Amino acid sequence: MSFSRSIKIAPSILAADFANFGAECRAIEDQGADWVHVDVMDGHFVPNITFGPATCAAIRPHIRGVMDVHLMIAPVDPYVEGFAKAGADIITAHMEAGPHIHRTLQAIRVTGAKAGLALNPGTGLDGVENLLDLLDLVCVMTVNPGFGGQAFIDMSDKVHRLRALIGDRPIHIEIDGGITPDTAPIMARAGADVLVAGSAVFKGGSAAEPAAYGANIRNIRAAAEAALGVVV
Ligand code: DX5
Ligand code: ZN
Repeated sequence: MSFSRSIKIAPSILAADFANFGAECRAIEDQGADWVHVDVMDGHFVPNITFGPATCAAIRPHIRGVMDVHLMIAPVDPYVEGFAKAGADIITAHMEAGPHIHRTLQAIRVTGAKAGLALNPGTGLDGVENLLDLLDLVCVMTVNPGFGGQAFIDMSDKVHRLRALIGDRPIHIEIDGGITPDTAPIMARAGADVLVAGSAVFKGGSAAEPAAYGANIRNIRAAAEAALGVVV
């Protein structure tokens, strides 16, 4: 995984057909997805339950590129090794999930996976400065985690400040929640490079009829790149 700040689209399979994950992962990658974003929820840290390491291991062979695992669970530490063994390239834990986020990030790095830190909309950047040496990614939530299809909460000021804090370090800024061709430019301009999108990618298509996935991914990417003045 080489580092680049170019715009990456990471469809969230939370909006995919849960009975067909393998085909859905292949379809979004064939249609231009850069990463596959996998939302793990425990019904405790967030009010919704999705799936765990066994499902991640089952879908791993269907993903050619980056498997980006977003853990919305508490506690995190007992499960880090399981998700790493399942083949996660990036494991992201929430700042709010426990008292020892530094230990959690260390535990992720020990497995060889990249370490991500997610921040809820109500969480500031206060602790982030002390974690920079342990981070490969910061995920700024633009919804309160737990469900797909929620309204976008503008966190561009936070992303702007985070971008300045990161400086030249090879740390991705990921945005998660409510991303569409209308909201992607706001976050790209603020400094985000990884755009997670569930509903806006999967709408109108299916694994059998995936052309809509491709059009949706291209529209989000084009809107974000236009905001950055990227010539395509
Ligand atoms: C929210 C999840 C998001 C969500 C994004 O808890 O972390 O990844 O699935 O879905 P949309 O794009 O529908 O807001
Ligand atoms: Zn997510």
